[in-house]
Amino acid sequence: FGPSTMIVVSNRLPVDATENEDGSISWGLAPGGLVTALEPFMRENASTWVGWAGISDLVLAPFERDGVKLVSVTLSENDVELFYEGFSNDTLWPLYHDVIEAPSYHRAWWEVYRSVNQKFADVVAAEAAEGATVWVHDYQLQLVPQMLRELRPDLTIGFFLHIPFPAYGLFSQLPWRRQIIEGLLGADLVGFQRAQDVDNFLRIVRRIMAYKVIGGHVTVPSRGEENRYVVARNFPISISYPDIQKLIKDPAVIARSREIRESIGNPKIMILGADRLDYTKGFLHRLKAYDELLSDGDLDPTEVVMVMVASPSRERVDSYIKLRDDVELAVGRINGQYGELGHYPVVYLHHNYPREEMMALFLAADVMLVTPLRDGMNLVAKEFVAARSDGDGVLVLSEFAGAFDELKAAVAVNPHDIDDLKKQILRAKDMAPAERRQRMLSMRRRVREHDVEKWSRDFLKALAHTNRVS
Ligand code: G6P
Repeated sequence: FGPSTMIVVSNRLPVDATENEDGSISWGLAPGGLVTALEPFMRENASTWVGWAGISDLVLAPFERDGVKLVSVTLSENDVELFYEGFSNDTLWPLYHDVIEAPSYHRAWWEVYRSVNQKFADVVAAEAAEGATVWVHDYQLQLVPQMLRELRPDLTIGFFLHIPFPAYGLFSQLPWRRQIIEGLLGADLVGFQRAQDVDNFLRIVRRIMAYKVIGGHVTVPSRGEENRYVVARNFPISISYPDIQKLIKDPAVIARSREIRESIGNPKIMILGADRLDYTKGFLHRLKAYDELLSDGDLDPTEVVMVMVASPSRERVDSYIKLRDDVELAVGRINGQYGELGHYPVVYLHHNYPREEMMALFLAADVMLVTPLRDGMNLVAKEFVAARSDGDGVLVLSEFAGAFDELKAAVAVNPHDIDDLKKQILRAKDMAPAERRQRMLSMRRRVREHDVEKWSRDFLKALAHTNRVS
């Protein structure tokens, strides 16, 4: 590998290391939507991916996977605790998701957030060829654009935020709000999921930095030099439509989807949820609505099964430990109350499954529940739609997921409103086949025409253009 002309930087590499009891290391696919979205882009654009391999103190030489050069950034145990679990996932994550949980503000976490961002910037600066394009991703690395610009003014720098950007009233709580905005404005192009994220960002730039904003263009004054122009725009992320079509045609996946229904007792209705076990995803609201539907007699526990895939996530952060306890208690209560030997109304799976198994689950389901309280995009909703080439299946989708802007033919729900959740679940269950088909076809068209390939093409085109203009 020579110096790279196109570098992607994200906290996580697509591969995730876990340490076994005997000290050996196993490799899996990294969790979350960011990796799902970026993998196909990387395959097509054969470039370099800089990120963390998932465990502390792991020193790895650059290696190749599917034609992509992976450069690992080593994080110490202290970095993992203060930068990853602390500032990224106990300060920024809850703050950016509208304080569903209270964010914690600790100066020591901020210091390490800064030093780890500098570590990433240093690695990228050493990798990048003269005039290269660097695409920085997500909330863990918001200082990297500015740090990189200082080290390497020759680079074209793009930034994309995968999660929501909060309103001024919330963001301004952050003691380091100016530094974060300055960090982001080191990029030539700052991309967001939804138009409302762009609006929030530009309003904050105006109010906190007092910079001039016209349309989506920010003027960044530079001491003694020419002003810089930064563009902010929304680019709704998506999934690889062709990849999913290939997976769902696989006879093993089709056979597996039948097997799944049999394994849960061939219920009349199979409801599915599939999320990282995260408090933004609305697990408890969903379980409450389901519990009430069973107790009201609106759902018959012998006819319905809710399969709830909850993939393990951030397992050392307190709010996640508490959520897992609460979810498992609620599942146990429902199954204890309405279950019988050999038949339980909730099948709860705390596992990370390969893509083939996820596709088989999507194909097996009648109703898909995607009910986050707040979500940047939610690729599971788009994956479900892309998987249903039979034109069947009903998607119940939260208005608070970015995907809702595009998937208007889903059954809309406000997950904070338990009565609405109950109503929409029943509506989905009872929907006539013709209406199911009509809604699914319209959503499938949207996802097919706006897949991840278009997302990355649009972003990179806009990035190349900003650089020419400024
Ligand atoms: C979301 C974030 C990603 C993150 C993923 C998994 O999709 O936007 O940046 O990688 O969750 O979370 P984790 O903490 O395991 O990386």
